[in-house]
Formats: sequence, C-alpha cells, structure tokens
Amino acid sequence: MFLNLTKKSSFLLTLCISVGLPYLAFSQPALKEVYQDYFPIGVAVGARNLTGDEAKLIKKQFNSITAENAMKMGPIQPVEGKFYWKDADAIVDFAMQNGFKMRGHNLSWHEQTPKWMFIGKDGKTVSKTVLLQRLKDHITTVVSRYKGKIYAWDVINEAIDDDPTKSLRQSPWYQILGDDFIIKAFEYAHAADPDAQLFYNDYNTEFPEKRDRIYTLLKRMIDKGVPIHGVGLQAHWSLQEPSAENLRAAIERYASLGLKIQFTELDLSIYPWEKNKRARKPGESAILTPELEQQQADRYGLVFKIFREYKDVITNVTFWNISDRYSWLDEYPVSGRKNYPLLFDTKLQPKKAFWAVVNF
Ligand code: GLA
Repeated sequence: MFLNLTKKSSFLLTLCISVGLPYLAFSQPALKEVYQDYFPIGVAVGARNLTGDEAKLIKKQFNSITAENAMKMGPIQPVEGKFYWKDADAIVDFAMQNGFKMRGHNLSWHEQTPKWMFIGKDGKTVSKTVLLQRLKDHITTVVSRYKGKIYAWDVINEAIDDDPTKSLRQSPWYQILGDDFIIKAFEYAHAADPDAQLFYNDYNTEFPEKRDRIYTLLKRMIDKGVPIHGVGLQAHWSLQEPSAENLRAAIERYASLGLKIQFTELDLSIYPWEKNKRARKPGESAILTPELEQQQADRYGLVFKIFREYKDVITNVTFWNISDRYSWLDEYPVSGRKNYPLLFDTKLQPKKAFWAVVNF
C-alpha cells in the first residue's frame, strides 16, 4: 500500500513537473505588457548580453534598451576620428530587429571620456575653440549614425557638482568651455537629429538641495531656448532612499517645467548608500537575506506605485542591468561585495520584487 502511494505520488510529481513547469514559465507575466498603458520598461545592456538566456529574458520582459557603456565617448571614440561602432551597432540592431525603443546614453560626461579630448596637438590643454569643435564632431557623428533609430538621447550626464554650494561640476568641460558646453551639446544634438528627444540626466535628483540646483539649470536652459525635452532621473536608489515625499516632489518640480521624466538607471541596492569607495571588510555580509528581499520588494512596490500615479509625465522606466547575475553595484562602492539590486535573481528567475512590481 505504502509503496503504491509513493509510486502514485511520484507519478503525480512527474506529471506536475512535465506539465506544470512549462505552464508556470508560460504564465510568468511580462513587465512590458503589465505596464503597456503606463510607460515602456527598459534595460541597460552590453553587446555580450544579446545571446542565450539573457537575450531571451530581455525579449520577454522589456521593450526599451539603453547601451550600458557602448555609446559613451571613451568606448565609442577611443582615438580622435576613429570610432568603434561594433558594440553600439549590435545593440541598436538587436533593438530594431526586436521592436524595442532605443535610448542613447550618453553624449557628454566627466567620466569615461577619452584622454585625447582635452589635450591639444602641442600636448597642452586644448583651447575653447578646438574643444567645441571636437564636441560638435563627436555629437554630430554619433547622433547622425543612429538618426531615426535612437528616439531619446542623454545629452549631458551629471553636470551638477556634488558640493551643494556650487552649481556646475568643475570638470574639464566646464573649466575649458564654461556654461556653454551644456547649451552647445544640446544644440549640436538637435541639429543632427531634430526629431530626437534630448535629456539632461543626473543622480540624487530627489534630494531637495540637488533637485533645486538641477531645476535652476533646466529652467535657465529652457528660458534661453535650448532644445531640451526631458530630464533623466538615474534612480540608483537603496532600501532607505529616496522618501516617497521627496520622490513625488521631484517629479512634480521637474514636470512643472513642461519636461518629460524618464527613470533612466533604476536599481535598488540592498546596502545603505556610501559615498567613498572601499574594499569589503573581512566577514562583511553580502547576502540577500529573506528580510532584505522582502524590504526590497516593498520598496519596489512603493516606487512603481508612485511611477504609475505620474504616468502622464513619465515616459520611460529603465533598469540598470538585467538581473542580479551582474550589476555594476557588485563592485561599487565596495569592491568584492555582491549586490542584489534588480528584479531577477542570478538564475534569471523573478524575485519577490518582480511580483511586487507586476501585482497591483
Ligand atoms: C552613472 C552613469 C551610467 C553608469 C553608472 C554606473 O550613473 O550614467 O552610465 O556608468 O553611473 O554604472
């Protein structure tokens, strides 16, 4: 009798596995479908992610793509006048073939800029005239190549200083070109593709003091007639920040300028934010405990609830990386400390956070 039952249950189990698992896999909701009446759901990728199980997940879940690094100045123009298109082209081709929207990221930043950009033929710091020409050539070449394919560009990334008493970051761009570099970059991008939507993109955009400095910059640009259409809020967040109140206030303040809002680099670190880089301490925990996973799901649920409330002004929400298999936060700011900031786990399976985002 006992043996019979065991046989029966093992038969049932086999049946469940053969019938049930494909059914479960088939019934897993897709973010892009759940959010089709709200905004596109994007993901940042490298060319290496476009085959195998990651590509399958990308195609099932997302409908917008950003290149994680391939379109940044250093990777795409490592030597003056010599462009490396291979990875960026592969990502754009994948996006076009599979019906994704494609965001361009980014045209000017203080990081990942090639060294040659600021050095003249004489080995000294380049003049304003030469640097403006280089900026123009870069933007014109890159934007023209993807004209009609990339619908939105992050034109300037992170130009506001971390020091609350300052306005613009003291980068070589600013030191050599002054305020002009922002205005010119937008003008060059607009001339190269008048239909592209042009964004200013930054982090910590919800902290009231930085929010107000960004607002002032954007307002100045709009008043001067600079062709800017939106603001990118990176959204590299944690379980603690930002507060719902600050998030709502930021959305409303930027939207009051008539700008569209995109959350361009969303991830929720399971660790409190730290400013300085450091190595992982011996014995320091790097585990996604059930408590942390639940807290993360609650926060993802909360921020998407707020996003949905503002669907009239939010035109994209993009995750920075695909799954916990790889995140830039595995190394930053604490080298060697694994992080788990996304909706899918290291095996590409949905986490609690995924269900919190799709069940509403
Ligand atoms: C910033 C940049 C992104 C990326 C992240 C870290 O937010 O805008 O392109 O480099 O830092 O990966």
